[in-house]
Amino acid sequence: MKKVTIYGHRGASRYAPENTFASYNKAVEMGADGIEIDVHKSKDGYLIVCHDERVDRTTNGKGLIKELTLKEIKNLDAGSWFSKEYQGQQIPILEEVLEFVKRKDILLDIEIKNGPIFYDKIEEDIVNQVKAYGLVEQTIISSFNHYSLAHIKNIAKEFKTGILYIAGMIEPWNYAKKVGASAIHPLFLTINREIVKESQINGIMVNPFTVNGEEELKLMKAFNVDSVITDCPDVCNRVFNI
Ligand code: G3P
Ligand code: MG
Repeated sequence: MKKVTIYGHRGASRYAPENTFASYNKAVEMGADGIEIDVHKSKDGYLIVCHDERVDRTTNGKGLIKELTLKEIKNLDAGSWFSKEYQGQQIPILEEVLEFVKRKDILLDIEIKNGPIFYDKIEEDIVNQVKAYGLVEQTIISSFNHYSLAHIKNIAKEFKTGILYIAGMIEPWNYAKKVGASAIHPLFLTINREIVKESQINGIMVNPFTVNGEEELKLMKAFNVDSVITDCPDVCNRVFNI
């Protein structure tokens, strides 16, 4: 049986504050093959790695990323909300993550957050930076905004893209092909053996999210998925390597 690819969701976000280097390092230590990150844009045009549109939940600050400058964002503490141990962790920018991915030689799933807040030219900026770091091969770009993914294929067809979705879709592999995607990134509850098999026959990878429990991971293993996006790379490794 082929080896599954493990992406640490926002790093190893069960164990360290999501989307910080503490979390990414932990994911790598726990044997993840890559990390999944979420990207927005600041007021002054930097690509900011954070899950929410606002900084409120995961930092000691307040406000929308699109209304804050990089300097303001970098002054925030992105670790203390999780535990005192992580005080002083910062919100990363995409370039810092690309540098890390290159140094560690791991894979990267960049989720474009483009809606309900829409960021002008976020696709172009991401493509240019990934190219500048020579990481096109190691990267897949995913989004719930499939217009963003179609746009990526228009401006840089060499990029792999993954369709994020949470609905029970019919023949998702056909939809993925229609928007030029290489993969589907379904909510894990929506897939079954048939969907995985038919997708793979059609050349579409199946990379479900966010699979954390042992039983769910066992099910994904039985379905023979290509990758798993998980908060717990350690549990995932244990289940898939049994
Ligand atoms: O990429 C999988 C997953 O991250 C999608 O949902 O909300 O955790 O970014 P969310
Ligand atoms: Mg995400």
